[in-house]
Amino acid sequence: MRVLVTGSAGMLARDLVPCLLQRDHEVIAPPESGLDITNLVTVMTALDDIRPEIIINCAAYTDVDGAEKEERKACLINGLAVQNLCLACQVPDIPLVHFSTDYVFDGEKQGAYSIFDHTNPINAYGRSKLLGEKYVIWLLRKFYLVRTSWLFGLHGRNFVDTMLGLGRKQKQVSVVNDQRGCPTWTQHLAGAVAGLIETGRYGVYNVTNSGPATWYDFAVEIFRQAGMDMEVRPVTTGEYPTPARRPANSVLDPFPANEVLGTSMPSWELALEECLSIKKEKP
Ligand SMILES: NC(=O)c1ccc[n+]([C@@H]2O[C@H](COP(=O)([O-])OP(=O)(O)OC[C@H]3O[C@@H](n4cnc5c(N)ncnc54)[C@H](OP(=O)(O)O)[C@@H]3O)[C@@H](O)[C@H]2O)c1
Repeated sequence: MRVLVTGSAGMLARDLVPCLLQRDHEVIAPPESGLDITNLVTVMTALDDIRPEIIINCAAYTDVDGAEKEERKACLINGLAVQNLCLACQVPDIPLVHFSTDYVFDGEKQGAYSIFDHTNPINAYGRSKLLGEKYVIWLLRKFYLVRTSWLFGLHGRNFVDTMLGLGRKQKQVSVVNDQRGCPTWTQHLAGAVAGLIETGRYGVYNVTNSGPATWYDFAVEIFRQAGMDMEVRPVTTGEYPTPARRPANSVLDPFPANEVLGTSMPSWELALEECLSIKKEKP
C-alpha cells in the first residue's frame, strides 16, 4: 500500500516507517515542517500530491503535564488537526489510522478497560485525545482507532530512558506504585498496526504489550534487566504530585485486536528485554 505517515520524527513513527517498508509498503513520511497537520490547506495539498491509499497519523501533542497549561494547543493538534485528516480522507475515501490513549479513561474501573467502556478523561491531554477520537468516529467510515499506552522505544523521551539516565547518576529513586497500566514497546505496536492495516477490518482497537504493571514494577524491571544496582522506593501519587492527574488504572483489554491479528502481543517484560538488547548494541 502507498502509506502517508504524519509526525515522522516522533517515537512511534520512527519505528513504524521501517516496519512498513519491511512489509513492502511504499511509505511517504514528510518532515513535520513539511506537513503541519493543523493546517487544512497543507493537508489537502499533501493528499493531492501524494495520493496515498491510507494515512497513518503519528503526529500528536504528547506532553501530558504541559497540556494542563496549553490545553488549546493540545486540542488543536490532537483534536482539530485530526478533523483535517478526516476531511482529507473523505474525498478519496481512504482509511485513517489514528492513535489514542489509555488516558481517555478516568481510571476508576477495577478491571481492564474494553473498547465498550465509557471514556471520561481526567486531564487536558486525555480530553484533547478524546476530541480526536470523536472526529474520527463522527466523520469516517474507514478507520483504525488504536488506543495504546505507556510507550517506550529507541527514539524519543520515554520512561525507560529516564530510568536508565537516573541509574547512571544515583543509587536510589522513588517511583509511583499506585498507577497501573500496560507498558508498550513501539516496535511491537508498529508490527501490530502494520498487521492491522492489511486486514481491512476497521474499528476501535486496544493495542498494548501484555500484562499490567505499575510505574514502580516497570522501574524495578528496567534496573534488573539493565543490571543496575538501584534502590527503588515505592511511593503514592500523592507523594509525587504532577500538574496533570493520571488514572489509577488504565490497563487496556486487548479484545478484539488479538482475535483480528490472530496473535497476542508479547509481555511487556519480553518487550523491554528486546528493546534493551537493541539499545546496548546502539547506545
Ligand atoms: N508516548 C506515549 O506514552 C503514548 C501513550 C499513549 C498513546 N500515545 C499516542 O501515540 C501516538 C504517538 O506518540 P509518540 O510517543 O510517538 O509521540 P511523539 O514522540 O511526541 O511524536 C509526535 C510527533 O508529532 C509531531 N507533531 C506535533 N505537532 C505536529 C503538527 N502540527 N504537525 C505534524 N507533526 C506534529 C511532533 O513534533 P514536535 O516534537 O516537533 O512537536 C512529534 O515529532 C500519539 O498519538 C500519542 O498520543 C502515546
